[in-house]
Amino acid sequence: MSDEPTMPLSLDKALTSFDALWSPRIVTRVNDYDVRVAKVEGEHVWHVHEDTDEFFLVLEGELRISLRETAGERTVLLPKGAVFTVPRGTEHKPYAPSRAAILMFEPAGTSTVGDRHDEIPDHVDATTGHALGS
Ligand code: NI
Repeated sequence: MSDEPTMPLSLDKALTSFDALWSPRIVTRVNDYDVRVAKVEGEHVWHVHEDTDEFFLVLEGELRISLRETAGERTVLLPKGAVFTVPRGTEHKPYAPSRAAILMFEPAGTSTVGDRHDEIPDHVDATTGHALGS
């Protein structure tokens, strides 16, 4: 965090402050991890974070995450309130059948599209997260 005094923050208000899909906003930092929230709908892109796990919490709606594991491909279904951690090195592709909101927890500087990825569609923001209000 910066030297400014920290203040409580409403996730509901944070989520109403922007409309962009697949474009996370950073709501706070914990040591060297960012807590990010994003609005999502439709498909993200297959990608992998070689060096970090990625934590998801579903705030609204439903998120599905497809995973390419040694045993094959599977999709986990996360209803509202579910948490899931994608292990480092595992190719994954989030997908939301309808509008959803998610919270992610990962090291600051982690790219939304990982270290390797398929071609990035126009609706996916390749970012390390934006400040709230930007
Ligand atoms: Ni990821």
